[in-house]
Amino acid sequence: MSDIWTALEQNRTAGESRRIFDMMSPERVERFSACLDDMFLDISKTSIDDEALDLLLQLVRERDVEGWRDAMFRGEKINTTEDRAVLHTALRNLSGDPVHVDGQDVMPEVLDTLAHMEDFSNGIRSGTIAASDGQPFTDVVNIGIGGSDLGPVMTTLALAPYHDGPRTHYVSNIDGADIHDNLAPLDPQRTLVIIASKSFTTIETMINAGVAVDWLKAALGDNFGAHLVAVSSAIDKTAAFGVPKDRVFGFADWVGGRYSIWGPVGLPLMLAVGPENFREFLLGGQDMDRHFRETPPERNMPVLLALTGIWHINICNYCTRAIQPYDQHLRRLPSYLQQLDMESNGKGVDRDGNSLTRASGPVVWGQVGSNGQHAFFQLLHQGSQIVPCEFLIAAEGHEPELQEQHALLVANCIAQSKALMRGRPADETPDPQRAFPGNRPSVTLAYRKLTPRTLGRIVALYEHRVFVEGIIWNINSFDQFGVELGKILAMEMLPLVQGKERTDKKDASTVALLKALKP
Ligand code: F6P
Repeated sequence: MSDIWTALEQNRTAGESRRIFDMMSPERVERFSACLDDMFLDISKTSIDDEALDLLLQLVRERDVEGWRDAMFRGEKINTTEDRAVLHTALRNLSGDPVHVDGQDVMPEVLDTLAHMEDFSNGIRSGTIAASDGQPFTDVVNIGIGGSDLGPVMTTLALAPYHDGPRTHYVSNIDGADIHDNLAPLDPQRTLVIIASKSFTTIETMINAGVAVDWLKAALGDNFGAHLVAVSSAIDKTAAFGVPKDRVFGFADWVGGRYSIWGPVGLPLMLAVGPENFREFLLGGQDMDRHFRETPPERNMPVLLALTGIWHINICNYCTRAIQPYDQHLRRLPSYLQQLDMESNGKGVDRDGNSLTRASGPVVWGQVGSNGQHAFFQLLHQGSQIVPCEFLIAAEGHEPELQEQHALLVANCIAQSKALMRGRPADETPDPQRAFPGNRPSVTLAYRKLTPRTLGRIVALYEHRVFVEGIIWNINSFDQFGVELGKILAMEMLPLVQGKERTDKKDASTVALLKALKP
């Protein structure tokens, strides 16, 4: 194993008593930060010192992060376990440059699909593509789960100030309450249903889609097809639901589900905010791609963000990461990043199938600020576990009439990171219950305003951060075999729950639960 890890551990041990607050200086902030236009990433409130940063950057070189990055953008099959290229970046490539997979330029097809989405969105938004009675659609229900849900949900909430299209609703859960409660207030005559599933086999989505199709059929009879859209990589499977051919939006298998918001999975977002704003979102992603490809590691935002992750997980043994957007419109970002990060880097073996000797992805969780302050921040400040925090904050809100309130939001965000860092030493308070240990790390991502372009930059920043961490751990961040066992067992469990099979061969706990949950 590399000497760099040993040197990092020695640095940590030698600096056990160092205080982040004491290291702070303008020079430190200059070195421990990075910018992309108005976006500013501050990693200075961590315990990484100059030597540790040098070592972490050496790790980036030793692991050939830049070589892997270039291979990804070149369309090489870096998803080795599934023998696939990893090219969600092609979906936001509006540069005119070709992107090759197996010697074939994929951009003409990507751009054709984008144009198809734009024509369709313009038609729905203007009413020229109408419901079966010739009147415009007012509501869109997206049925999907995981990457076919979290990206559209998170981004439509994030860009709420830009909504001028139909209302969007999201159904994901196998729990019938989800589809029931979403459809109940809607008029099928005014509703467009999008069935979104990369595989078009996911049980939750297929069952919910069946319910929605029956709901449409009951109201519209044979005309229900005019109210259906499918988004999938498996376009051969979409006809079974009666989706007309010209209503199917396909994407290639080199787009991972949790990376798919940039293409047809983003259709509900495009319907809500319009093609121009969607293009801005893509341009934001492209900005971050360019920054990631062209900026040296020591000024590179995804690289620096990844290095804080490596430092916290592997060197400090902090096993969770709290995402705290001080931005109400980003309230679903923690859930989105949970899938992006934990499904990508929650792995136990390396690319060659060997057990990892170091921890990989952390537990990612979080809550919008300032709400979190009144819930779990007690533990963050005084609890016995240290949780690195990641704050996101805009200089401006979308409510000019509430500027005072925004100032309070900003003040709260900065105050929390400062309180975590500085604490309140025992010599400032006689009461141990009121002392704060401080020296608790955080990073802050600041930006001017949550525009579509900024949102694109934020999402791509986190994608590339996950990529860099995965390369350093030598894992494949683009498969997800860990989700499969539970799905298989659920199908085995179903006849037992339904009382169609005997339970006696099952373990005692399963038998007891089946008894308790008998219908
Ligand atoms: O079970 C996990 C998963 O495969 C995710 O990776 C994916 O985003 C989600 O299920 C939904 O998959 P699909 O889009 O194929 O329905």
